[in-house]
Amino acid sequence: MEIIVTKDYRELSRTVCEILEKQVIGKPDSVLGLATGGTPLGTYEEMVKGYEHRGVDYSCVTAFNLDEYVGLGRNHSQSYHSYMNDHLFHFLNIPKERVHIPNGMAEDLEQECATYEDKLNEIGPPDLQILGIGANGHIGFNEPGTSFASTTHVVDLAPTTRKANARFFTSLDKVPEQAITMGIRTIMKSRHIVLLASGSHKLKAVKTLIDSEPNEQFPASILKNHPHVTLVTDKSAKPYE
Ligand code: GLP
Repeated sequence: MEIIVTKDYRELSRTVCEILEKQVIGKPDSVLGLATGGTPLGTYEEMVKGYEHRGVDYSCVTAFNLDEYVGLGRNHSQSYHSYMNDHLFHFLNIPKERVHIPNGMAEDLEQECATYEDKLNEIGPPDLQILGIGANGHIGFNEPGTSFASTTHVVDLAPTTRKANARFFTSLDKVPEQAITMGIRTIMKSRHIVLLASGSHKLKAVKTLIDSEPNEQFPASILKNHPHVTLVTDKSAKPYE
């Protein structure tokens, strides 16, 4: 695993944006795997600047998002559809038909997962997958205990994850209890994975990742089996000197 330590969150965001832009400039029809959460927000801001000021072209890109809450419509302010539109897709020229996010309102959720996985297999895998990390080691919404063989599936969110994400909702009981997420096997098919960790509250997770062997109780540990992972972390989330 390649590790890049940046001096702060701003530099982290610029670094990840540079990696993404290099990917898209080198291969204009890249498939990008994108993540939500607080950590990639700065990266997306930089990408928007890159599009507006440096003319980075996304017109041939395909995007797949990692996950979506079950039960939130695409126009709900806290759905990941809204997050991606508000922070990225609204500003870039990725054609709408090439943007893929699981539908958390699907009548048949199992079918939605299977269709999403098929689409990923048909068009993907992502050339570059952006990932955040949960304090409990979750990637996407793959909580501890998720099988490393999992494909896109419906998950029950861990109480700690709901609590961590409650900051985006008016109260904890408004946080959905389930989500659709790409599985761990799905994520591992990506050609290059860029894992972002920022802030002292991620220190323990980064330390566990570095110290542990792959085990299903800490989902991010699977990344040690992947041939091309770049961990980008800022000084406050760096566990060792
Ligand atoms: C969320 C998302 C993940 C994200 C993680 C960390 O629940 N589903 O994709 O990586 O938790 O979020 P944050 O970046 O806000 O710490």
